[in-house]
Amino acid sequence: MSKRTLLTVILAAGKGTRMRSALPKVLHKVAGRSMLGHSIAAARAAGASRIAVVIGPGMDNVRAEALRLAKDCDVFVQEAQLGTAHAVLAARPALETHNGDVLVLYGDTPLIEPATLSGLVASLETGINIGVLGFEASDPAGYGRIIRDADETVIAIREERDATEAERAITLCNSGVKAFRCQSLPDLLDRIGNINSKGEYYLTDSVDVGRGMGLSARAIVCREDEVLGVNSRDQLAAAEGIWQSRARRAAMLAGVTMIAPETVWLSYDTRFGEDVTIEPNVVFGPGVTVADRVEIKASCHIEGASIAAGSRIGPFARLRPGATIGREVHIGNFVEVKNVAMGHGAKANHLAYLGDGTVGDGANIGAGTIFCNYDGFEKHRTEVGENAFVGSNTSLVAPVRIGSGAFIGSGSVITRDVAPDALAVERSAQEERPDWARKFRALMQRKKQAKRQRDQG
Ligand code: UD1
Ligand code: MG
Repeated sequence: MSKRTLLTVILAAGKGTRMRSALPKVLHKVAGRSMLGHSIAAARAAGASRIAVVIGPGMDNVRAEALRLAKDCDVFVQEAQLGTAHAVLAARPALETHNGDVLVLYGDTPLIEPATLSGLVASLETGINIGVLGFEASDPAGYGRIIRDADETVIAIREERDATEAERAITLCNSGVKAFRCQSLPDLLDRIGNINSKGEYYLTDSVDVGRGMGLSARAIVCREDEVLGVNSRDQLAAAEGIWQSRARRAAMLAGVTMIAPETVWLSYDTRFGEDVTIEPNVVFGPGVTVADRVEIKASCHIEGASIAAGSRIGPFARLRPGATIGREVHIGNFVEVKNVAMGHGAKANHLAYLGDGTVGDGANIGAGTIFCNYDGFEKHRTEVGENAFVGSNTSLVAPVRIGSGAFIGSGSVITRDVAPDALAVERSAQEERPDWARKFRALMQRKKQAKRQRDQG
């Protein structure tokens, strides 16, 4: 049988009042990516060929984020929040032109693992029409309960406020994620009413209504930590924590040593080679690739950077977007690198700002070197040739080029290009006065003595 196409509908119309934020809830980030971004990635991992995102009125920034992440997705506005079934129906034009399975995800549930979603969608292959993703809740309060008969067919999902005492005792809860295989999902959803305690059109009623149409439902059970829904900032932090511990563990299992993993912060897209060592208190923002045998010492902040094999970074280094660190490079303490490519074996071991330029293979950047890249209006580039030696406390005023093998005398302010293998020094000549210090000390001592005598007399 050929694989059916999959349309994923992501519900993101809720305002998220409990976040107490001007930003819509699904734009808050976990591991450097919006929660909506996590849902879109999950949809893709589940094999979605089409994605529809349902947003609330006025959420132009959510629309923009959806289109940024999935150019070909369809965005629909649910004008009034009349319930989860009503929200899915906001995507009616997509549902009506789709001939295949439908997966419904919530935009505020960023921790679902790809394998779980694939399993849910695959459950449709067993002849069921509705796959319900459920979990055993440690505290079921507030969740819809999954009601099954003796052969484990799901016969209904009951919202807590509509449930009987016996139904409330059930601990298998509805995550909200569902997969559908039926003739027409709009037809099923149109039959759902709103006679319940909230007066809402519940997507959960698709099970009960579907039964009346001869459709069967089963539950796929996942871990509770995969379906944590984020409603408030403490839950956002909890989701971040769960995401981080999973990602750290995956990195360690793939060959990364972390001395204190709980102090290392990763992004959704951080990539590591083998035998990488990461000391405590390192933060990876988005867009970082770290190759084999790289050592990252304590307290570094790294984003938008790539680090080639065998390099040593930190302690206390900052790599910003566009830092392209070559093989066996040393970046030491209090060095900031932004939009600079460092060649094989180059070194900047202490106290430097390297912004907008290139540093050739084997070049040595002395302590206190500054690439003066900004003139108050524009950014300019600094190019340091291979094997050049930049003495300590040098300002390289961009645009400027230091030829390969050139030496820059310490303390220089370099404003013009320097030829290969030349020495450039820009500072006043050193003056020396023989015996000056001895005479100065004697003079001062006499003055001090005279003052003391005046004060006493
Ligand atoms: C829902 C489920 C419940 C489940 C719980 C899991 C229903 C009726 N109930 O309850 O069984 O245990 O999630 O967290 O589905 N949304 C819209 N438009 C609407 C209403 C909701 O887009 O009109 C979106 C929300 O933004 C949110 C999601 O749908 O992303 C769920 O809505 P919410 O109100 O949080 O449902 P719960 O009461 O939590
Ligand atoms: Mg909810």
